[in-house]
Order: sequence, then C-alpha cells, then structure tokens
Amino acid sequence: MRVGIIGIGQTKMGEHWSKSLRDLSTEAGAMALKSAGMTASDIDGLFIGNMSAGRFVGQEHLAALAADHAGMTPIPATRCEAACASGSLAFRKAYFAILSGHHKIVMVGGSEKMTDIGATGSVGTLMGAGDQEWESSIGLTFPGLYALMAQAYMERYGLQRDELSLVPVKNHAHGVKNPYAQFRFPISVQDVAASPLVADPLRLLDCSPITDGAAAIILATEDVAKHFEKPVWVAGSGQASDTLALHDREELCRLRASEKAAQMAYIQAGVGPENIDVAEVHDCFSIAEIIAYEDLGFAKRGKGKQMLLNKDTSMGGSMPVNTDGGLKVGHPVGATGIKQLIEITRQLRGEAPNQVKDAKIGLAHNVGGSGATALVHILRRD
Ligand code: COA
Repeated sequence: MRVGIIGIGQTKMGEHWSKSLRDLSTEAGAMALKSAGMTASDIDGLFIGNMSAGRFVGQEHLAALAADHAGMTPIPATRCEAACASGSLAFRKAYFAILSGHHKIVMVGGSEKMTDIGATGSVGTLMGAGDQEWESSIGLTFPGLYALMAQAYMERYGLQRDELSLVPVKNHAHGVKNPYAQFRFPISVQDVAASPLVADPLRLLDCSPITDGAAAIILATEDVAKHFEKPVWVAGSGQASDTLALHDREELCRLRASEKAAQMAYIQAGVGPENIDVAEVHDCFSIAEIIAYEDLGFAKRGKGKQMLLNKDTSMGGSMPVNTDGGLKVGHPVGATGIKQLIEITRQLRGEAPNQVKDAKIGLAHNVGGSGATALVHILRRD
C-alpha cells in the first residue's frame, strides 16, 4: 500500500510577535486542509513535531492543544520530539500509522516559537538537545559544536574558508524567491567574511537563524490519495541514531546517523543518490550541508565542496539542493522537517518558486542536534 501527500500548508517564517504557537500551528493546519479540500472532521489522526515548546513558550502537551484548537478532538493527537528533526520524526510516525492500517487520513504538523525568549534563551534551550553533562555544562552551544566539525573537516580535507561560504551564498540566492523565508536577500562570499564571528570558523552568515513558524501536511492511504490530481508518494523513510555527545564519535567529518538513514530510505525506495532530482538537506550551519552531500552519497568523502564549485547544487545544476533557501533562511526547529517535505512536494508537483525542471524524485534530510538523530525521506510522483 502506498501513502500519499494530498495537502500542504505553512506559515511565513520569522519573528511573529502577534501570533502564539497555537495560532501558528492552526494557521498551517488550516492551509493544509484547504489545499486538500478537506475539513478537520476528515482527519483521523494528528502528529506534531515540536522540539521544546515547554522552554520556548511554557507550553507542554502541545498535540492535544493543537487538536483542541483545530477542532479535531477526540482523535488521537501525538507529539514527537527529536530536537531539530522533530518534524520529520512526526512525518515518519504518521506514515507508519497509515501503513499499519489504523489511520486513513492524518495531519502531520511541525511548529516552534523560538523568538519570545530572545537569542540567549533560545541558544540555551536549543542546547538542551546536546549532552547536558558533558557539553552544555561547559558552555558549548550548537554553533560551537558545528564549529568543531568545521575545523576538523577543513584540516582533514583542505576546505578553504571562502569555499565554505559558497553554501550560504547559494542558499540565500535560492531564498530570495521563497515567500515563506525569514531572510530574502542575496549575500556574497565577502559578506560572509565580514559578518561577525560566532564560533571560529563559523560566522553569523554561516548560521541558521532563530525562527517562529509552523508547517503541516495531510497524508492519506493510496485509496484516498489516488483521486487527487497530483499526489506525491512516500517512497522511502529512514531513521537512525548516534552518540549524543560529539566527543564520543570516531570522527567529526561525517554523521553516521545520516548515512544509515539514507541507506534505509534508498533501499526502501529502490533508488540511489544518482536518481535524486532535487534535495532539501539540513544546513543548520554551512559545514553541515557539505557533510550532508557526502553522507547522502551525492559526493565522495572529502569532495563535497566540488559540487558547490561546479554549481551542481544551485538552480540549473545537476541536482539542486535547498531550492527554498534551506534552514539558512528560516529554521523553526520543530517545523523544519515538515517545511523541507513541503518544498519537495511542491517540486514534484511542479509548483515550486524555484522549480527544478521535470523533478520526479526528491529527498529530504533532517538532523537532530549535532547528528544524534537523522531522518531521510524520499518522495516521488507517478
Ligand atoms: N543569518 C543572517 N542574519 C542573521 C542571522 C542569521 N542566522 N541571525 C540574525 N541575523 C541578523 C538579524 O536579522 C539582525 O539583523 P538587523 O540588525 O538588520 O535587524 C542581526 O543579524 C542581529 O540579529 P540578532 O537576533 O541580534 O542576532 P544574534 O546575534 O542574537 O543571533 C545567532 C545570531 C547566530 C547567534 C543565532 O541566530 C543563532 O544562535 N543561530 C543558530 C541557531 C541554532 O543553533 N539552531 C539549531 C541548529 S542545530
């Protein structure tokens, strides 16, 4: 049995001072229902990805709240948490719920409201996804953890600082056309070099921002989805885990959870990296995108930068990556995995602002923390 995506919706990403977390979640859900031509009463299960509403806005029990506010009670409502990979985790659980035969039409959402507690509060809350005893307690932050990976990678493979900057330059260029992006301005390699140092060698323009936002998808059984004009099918789903603390890894230049999750998704979908037409990868910091190219099998180990130098992953290249601008132009952590899958869905429907010509198979890669969780989904159209 296949499972299809039949509805999508997302809010603009950014600072939403006049909207609460429940408002954002409901807005995205209502847009997804509208795009599927459905109402709340058609939905028989709700899954929501959220990293830390308790610390960001003081609200736990988010799934029941979302079901309540959307008028969906008494259907089962479940929250899924895996740091920045919470959205993709919710998607996988919703997919399994349909495959199991327990559900027919499911809404899977992701939401986060990060800006209310300011950057310092957000950075501390995000670090809740690191190892509290061995990392957070000594003052490490996620920019710091990814800076360690960047240093190790630059040393080992000879990556130059300006080559690393090609990641955010590309993603900002793609984000200009994305109406939902937090940042819609192009940047240059010189701009990255001139931006403030956050954690050596990473600068402000290497970092994903602190973002509010929500996104939602309607998933349905094949019997339901096949009647829609442009259903997009879930072809493969992979999930894997790794050590929480970076110092317990054998090496810092790869994420084994990403490699494993990708293998699982490729095997299930019966495709390889060479078959992917378009991808969304987890570029929380510039170095993460280069490592992702290699973990996902797009490039050989240590050769990821070549894809940037050749413009393979830019619009017009052989396999555009982060066509909506990626996490660099908005990263509402619990919602990110869902908004990545929405971009791939738009690409496969031929409806993306930066459309990849004739895209048939797309991949979404979502990482939790510094790589302790990774999920990869492969979508395809008929
Ligand atoms: N990219 C581009 N511009 C950014 C930016 C980013 N990531 N973050 C902030 N800005 C801009 C703001 O829009 C603002 O511009 P303005 O002065 O024109 O209004 C300016 O930079 C300062 O913004 P501010 O909010 O004061 O930045 P900050 O210094 O408090 O926070 C970071 C910057 C990099 C520390 C913060 O964005 C951060 O921690 N990012 C990483 C988030 C993270 O770890 N996510 C999880 C990944 S695993």
